[in-house]
Order: sequence, then C-alpha cells, then structure tokens
Amino acid sequence: MTSLLNTTFCGVEFENPLILPSGIITEIPAHKKAEDAGAGGVTLKSFTVQPREGHSLPRIIKYDHGFLNSVGLRNAGIEKGKEAVKEYFLHARVPTIVSVFATNVKDFVQLLETFAPLHPAMIELNLSCPNVEDEFGKPTGDEVESAARVVREAKKIVRNIPLIAKLSPNLPTIVDIAKTCEAEGINGLSAINTVGPGMVIDIKTKKPVLGHLKGGVSGPGIFPIAVAKIYDLYEAVKVPILGMGGVTSWQNAVEIMMAGASLVGVGSAVYSKGYGVFEEIKAGMIKYMEENGVGSVQEMVGIAHQR
Ligand SMILES: Cc1cc2nc3c(=O)[nH]c(=O)nc-3n(C[C@H](O)[C@H](O)[C@H](O)COP(=O)(O)O)c2cc1C
Repeated sequence: MTSLLNTTFCGVEFENPLILPSGIITEIPAHKKAEDAGAGGVTLKSFTVQPREGHSLPRIIKYDHGFLNSVGLRNAGIEKGKEAVKEYFLHARVPTIVSVFATNVKDFVQLLETFAPLHPAMIELNLSCPNVEDEFGKPTGDEVESAARVVREAKKIVRNIPLIAKLSPNLPTIVDIAKTCEAEGINGLSAINTVGPGMVIDIKTKKPVLGHLKGGVSGPGIFPIAVAKIYDLYEAVKVPILGMGGVTSWQNAVEIMMAGASLVGVGSAVYSKGYGVFEEIKAGMIKYMEENGVGSVQEMVGIAHQR
C-alpha cells in the first residue's frame, strides 16, 4: 500500500521513514517489538567480534532532558550473534539493518564476512561508539584515514548490500569523515550517535549514578545538536542520511528531515513514550503533510537549505 510516508533509502524501500536506531533494544529477538509497533525499519544492536558483558550497572539512567547510557556494547559476539540474526531474519517484515563495531580493520572484516552472507537490508558501520574508548582506544571514526580504510575494505565484502557509516557528533572532523566515507563509496550516513560523554551525580549519595561513571547522552537534550550536524552533513555530501538524536515528536521528525535526513531514527523516545511513539509520529506527519500539501516525505528532505 502506498502512502505519503513511503520512501526509499540507498535503493531499499521503507513503508515509513521511522527507524529504530541501534542499541535501544539489546536482545535480538526483542527488536521485533519495534517492528510490531510500526517502525519502518529496525537497526540491531551493534555486534563486536567477541561477546561483551557490557559495563557495570546501572547502564541507562534518565536525566531531566533525556538519558545517559554506558551499555558498553553489551552483545553476544559473532558466533551466537550470527545464529540469533539468522533466526530473526526468518520473521522480519521490515528492512533490518545490522550494525557492527570494531576498532581495527581486521575485526570489521571478520564482522562483515559473518553478517553480509545473511543479506541484511543494509549494514551500518558504527564508527563512533563513545563508551568504550578507555578499553579500545580511540574510535576508528576519530581518524579520517582509518575510517577510509574501513569503508574501502568493507565495500569489497558487502558487494551489493548498502553500507552506511554511523558518525559521532563528538568529533570536530565529522564532516571530513563523512566526505572521506563518501569518496570511498559509502552508500549512506547515519548520525548522530550519543553526545558526550556526560555525567550525573546524585547529590544525596554524592556519587556518579552510572556504574561506568560517564555515558553517552541521548534524547531531547541533544536534538538541536543532531539538527545542526545533519544540516552540515547534508551540505557536505550527496549520499542520503539517516538522521537521529532526540527525535521525540512528529515535529522533530519533520524538522530533522528539513535539515537533510531521508530516514529518521527514533530511539530514546521509546524509553520515554513507549512503543506507541512510532504510530504517534506517523499520524502527526501525515496530518502535517496533508494540511501543507506535501505529497511525499522526500519533498521535505533538506528543504531548510533552500535560500
Ligand atoms: C542504551 C543505548 C544503547 C546504544 N547502543 C548503540 C549501539 O550499540 N550502536 C550504535 O551505533 N548506537 C548506539 N546507541 C546510540 C543510538 O543508536 C542513537 O544514535 C542515539 O541514542 C541518539 O538517538 P536518540 O536520542 O533517538 O536515542 C545507543 C543508545 C542508547 C540510548
């Protein structure tokens, strides 16, 4: 059924532009909840080569304007992960994106060789996770050249599966990394990952609340940062952008599309509003489009750039 919300991204068709971003749900089978709730697409939690327990509890906390998390890439690793993804794909009804994280090209290659044969709708290279820097060293995306090497090698493995790079807002080089990824043949970008790290101290216990002390900030507090980064990326590259960071309402979704996002990630809003947020945003977007004579979501992408 065609609707105002139908769209395509990197050649993949989406019934609506709302995507569950990586990591909002941890366990693979549970990602189905977002699909059942009306998300147009789902990104699975980032996989690393080895299984990871994640950081000490608590890993996700709420603050006045969103959330902080230091999940620390808790995931099953490739061996168990591959089986879980295979099983998930048997029943997936919307395009599913596999996300992979590594700090060196060799591990990225191993991850892609594991997951590409399962034919996900797209593969997202997480070049940006901020919570594991102390263990892994600097994220690969920190260095324009290492991002280029990852994309170059990845393209050889994924062949016709669209490859997108997830970028961090915390690097002043975000636009340079985006341009470099594009020059190496990336098909799309995904931004932004969490902002920070941030910290919350409980004034009663006089201690940081997160088990890992600091964590990435997500939710409404980062929305204007997301809009600005998407705006900058849209000016700099031609590949489409999956935009996210604090989108909580249909107004936010329309705004981030106007900044340049073709798809819209709705992550932390699931924590604050529940899974009904997908239907709520879709209904609001349709009403807005009908009232304003917008014939398709693509018409809104990047219109804030027209001067
Ligand atoms: C608990 C949690 C875990 C996350 N884990 C990942 C992850 O594994 N990989 C990744 O690329 N992004 C991860 N993210 C970042 C989100 O995908 C998203 O980029 C960020 O939260 C901003 O969007 P939001 O404000 O809508 O949540 C995580 C975010 C949260 C809140």
